[in-house]
Amino acid sequence: MKHFLEISQLSRQHIQSLLDRSIQFKSTRHYPSYTDRVMVNLFYENSTRTRASFELAAKHLSMKVIHVDLQNSSENKGEVVEDTLKTLSAMGVSHFVIRHQHNGLPQQLADLLVDEAVHIVNAGDGTHAHPSQALLDMMTILEKKSRLDELKIAILGDIKHSRVANSFQVICQKMGVGELVLIAPEIWQPDVIHFGTATTHTARGLKDADVVICLRVQRERLLDIDHLDMAWYRKHFALTQQSLAHAKPDVMVMHPGPINRGIEIDADVVDGPLSCVLEQVRHGVFARMAILDALG
Ligand code: NCD
Repeated sequence: MKHFLEISQLSRQHIQSLLDRSIQFKSTRHYPSYTDRVMVNLFYENSTRTRASFELAAKHLSMKVIHVDLQNSSENKGEVVEDTLKTLSAMGVSHFVIRHQHNGLPQQLADLLVDEAVHIVNAGDGTHAHPSQALLDMMTILEKKSRLDELKIAILGDIKHSRVANSFQVICQKMGVGELVLIAPEIWQPDVIHFGTATTHTARGLKDADVVICLRVQRERLLDIDHLDMAWYRKHFALTQQSLAHAKPDVMVMHPGPINRGIEIDADVVDGPLSCVLEQVRHGVFARMAILDALG
């Protein structure tokens, strides 16, 4: 695999082999050693877990990891980022993990640098895709629920602006998930549905769900936030003990993080016995090891 850009570019077999490799990395301490590979995290948007997770994954595989501080960078056009990649590539950087606010930027860079010996990983582009999150979410689900075709999964929240929801829909479709319901208020209904059905009705959407993924209220992406009444949103769409009661008693509660406790999800749900949130974080390292391992 040259790049890891979008779940839609992978076959079911390929996704399965990445999942198998992730699970294998979880169960062994014997990791391959890629001392000749150099990884850089280029994060043009804030991140704690994704960035740390890729860094740890690379280090477990004995890759060298360098840091470039882009927090205050004025780069925001594909061509400028291309120069950064070429410069770092000339220094010997082979693996570029990129998070950027611009939809499609990792793919654009892969197209521009088609002749270079560089590997690009999409760590989240705008509202478009977040494929490594989809992989770690699927790994987490598969550990507890083996029959994907029998599952009902619900995603709850701001589906419209969520790259997590986009990539997750595609991985569910590829892997043959039985039922996927996208629950959002009218203003956050998706423009495009890749897989599943959309509803504005939380109780109906959560009914008998085996898994519920709660999404963050992404204030930084919401131009329409001023028109959203938070008390109203909480009443109708927050994941609380009360709304969770519609799901199956052993429902898996997931959230990609970061979490706004008391906004989209209640603290007692995040910290409760059904929560798999920290398991997702743990699995993120193994899933990203599998991705880096496959990029040779
Ligand atoms: C997500 C992201 O950045 O897309 N978080 C993450 O990667 N763990 C979701 C979010 O920001 O709400």
